[in-house]
Amino acid sequence: MSFLTAVAGKGGVGKSTVSALLVRILSERDIVLAVDADPNSNLGQKLGTDVPGTVGQVREGLLSKGGQPPRDMSKQEYLKLKLREILAEGNGFDLLTMGRPEGPGCYCYVNNLLRVFVDQLMDSYTQVIIDNEAGMEHLSRRTARSMDLLILVSDPTAVGVATAVRLSQLAEELDLKVKRKVLLINGVRSGKEAKAEQLARDTGLELFLLHDDEVVREASSSGATVKGDEPLASELRELVPNLFPSNKRT
Ligand SMILES: Nc1ncnc2c1ncn2[C@@H]1O[C@H](COP(=O)(O)OP(=O)(O)OP(=O)(O)O)[C@@H](O)[C@H]1O
Ligand SMILES: [Mg+2]
Repeated sequence: MSFLTAVAGKGGVGKSTVSALLVRILSERDIVLAVDADPNSNLGQKLGTDVPGTVGQVREGLLSKGGQPPRDMSKQEYLKLKLREILAEGNGFDLLTMGRPEGPGCYCYVNNLLRVFVDQLMDSYTQVIIDNEAGMEHLSRRTARSMDLLILVSDPTAVGVATAVRLSQLAEELDLKVKRKVLLINGVRSGKEAKAEQLARDTGLELFLLHDDEVVREASSSGATVKGDEPLASELRELVPNLFPSNKRT
């Protein structure tokens, strides 16, 4: 059984940073699949992994003229093969990049098969971390079936927290099966913890804080990857036993 985590929140609050660090930390003990579900993918870059292609490209390829499987191969076999080809092998984890989502109303055969195969693929890992695009779309698009953990990331602002709360409500309205939801306020300056806690007070969400980290910001501005030894990584590492119980290991 895989433990499935989705990371969501307002734009620029640190979703991909948190996702990439979790992938690094969890791959020390688990078999991890990182899923980049942001059409403007950059999780591969943050993890220093080349991305050979996206699920969107596989779908578009198969739907395009001349993208048909060879004569001796079924569409199913061909799709599975293509999906394997775009699965990037990172250092201790694999990375699946979703790319462009299907157009509205695309309930086509290929797309349904892809969903089934992506779900099957997820099942072969003990941890799946899905880094989502900003906003709400991905939730209604059902990037993930049921989730064990929904991490709502926010910056220490009222707007960020309000977005997190809206996402949390949307998950409920859409009847998504979410076992646990937490609010992670990221980028808190030291001495401002009480203020961040105040912002979260009426949300009813379980709260965790992460501090502003100069090392992460500097690395990111020079295009460097997240390594897992930054101060922010140490903070996250302390949250891991609580958020990712190890009895989920197989
Ligand atoms: N705790 C932190 N301290 C300092 N800088 C941070 C912290 N967390 C994230 N950042 C920086 O904030 C910027 C945005 O982070 P990131 O790309 O992870 O956000 P995002 O929510 O994934 O953005 P998007 O909505 O564009 O996908 C990056 O430059 C990142 O290095
Ligand atoms: Mg991102």
